[in-house]
Amino acid sequence: MTDEILELILHRDATMTEDALRKVYTEDEDIKVLLDAECYSLFAGGKRIRPALTLEFCRMFGGEDSAALPFACAVEMIHTYSLIHDDLPCMDDDEMRRGKPTNHKVFGESTALLAGDSLLTGAFEVAASNSVVGSDISAKAVAYLASCAGRYGMVGGQIMDLEGEKKKLTLDELLKLHSLKTGALISAASVMGALAAGVEMTDPRMEDVVTYAENIGLAFQIVDDILDKTGNAEELGKNVGVDAEHQKNTFLSFFTIEEAQFYADRLTREAIDAIRKYKESETLCAIAEWLATRKK
Ligand code: IPE
Ligand code: IPE
Ligand code: MG
Ligand code: MG
Ligand code: MG
Repeated sequence: MTDEILELILHRDATMTEDALRKVYTEDEDIKVLLDAECYSLFAGGKRIRPALTLEFCRMFGGEDSAALPFACAVEMIHTYSLIHDDLPCMDDDEMRRGKPTNHKVFGESTALLAGDSLLTGAFEVAASNSVVGSDISAKAVAYLASCAGRYGMVGGQIMDLEGEKKKLTLDELLKLHSLKTGALISAASVMGALAAGVEMTDPRMEDVVTYAENIGLAFQIVDDILDKTGNAEELGKNVGVDAEHQKNTFLSFFTIEEAQFYADRLTREAIDAIRKYKESETLCAIAEWLATRKK
């Protein structure tokens, strides 16, 4: 698949997700500042990689877009909340995100905190209300999403990240941190896509989904670490060099840029190997490859 075709597919998936996300919001003058703060970050762009994974896994297993779309929205809402909170002064204290001043810079810390809370809670409302798949599948998706977003998932990874600022982690600890803070939500996105297509959690195909997701998830955070050193702030839409400033444990605390990239490439190949046997896996294979070489 050419880069141009992949770009078109990702653009179509992103547009579909954004159109659906807009429907989550109805005007309410009394809470306008909260809605504005949520939408400020939610509609600021972003690669929309997680909703694309949900939609593409659903398609690969023969499901309908309409079944996957609420799950795609939910995972992007949780991801956006995690970014708003990640940028707060008490966390990474960042000033730029998705090419704009961070949420708390514009709306203040308390509104940014609540915008994150509201996106998180709203995500579960959207996922649980997926009327296309019905209550059995949406309950399974919600449970999986919650486990990936919470203490044994993304939030757990974030506490390891913050605690790690005060000490040097082992490589095993760093691998766990990265898998949790970034890999877990990528797994949720992928698994929910397969669930939307009717693949059961116990179906052997789900193991391939998880293998793919865990590998690209870890590769994704390794590349994020590399880009913090080598990337262009304008292209990335966020400031660079901030990991070193905060004494973060990253892949570059252990490896050179070349070694880290080699590791990410190997994980990408393992991800592709897990799913290439499926007809229609071409887009997901191309997404994995693109993520390993991305510049933003
Ligand atoms: C950034 O995620 C935070 C990490 C998990 C590394 P993305 O790189 O997917 O950010 P957006 O959604 O494109 O802004
Ligand atoms: C963030 O990791 C992962 C989240 C759960 C948001 P980073 O702190 O490395 O993400 P960036 O570099 O700020 O996007
Ligand atoms: Mg962080
Ligand atoms: Mg950060
Ligand atoms: Mg980073």
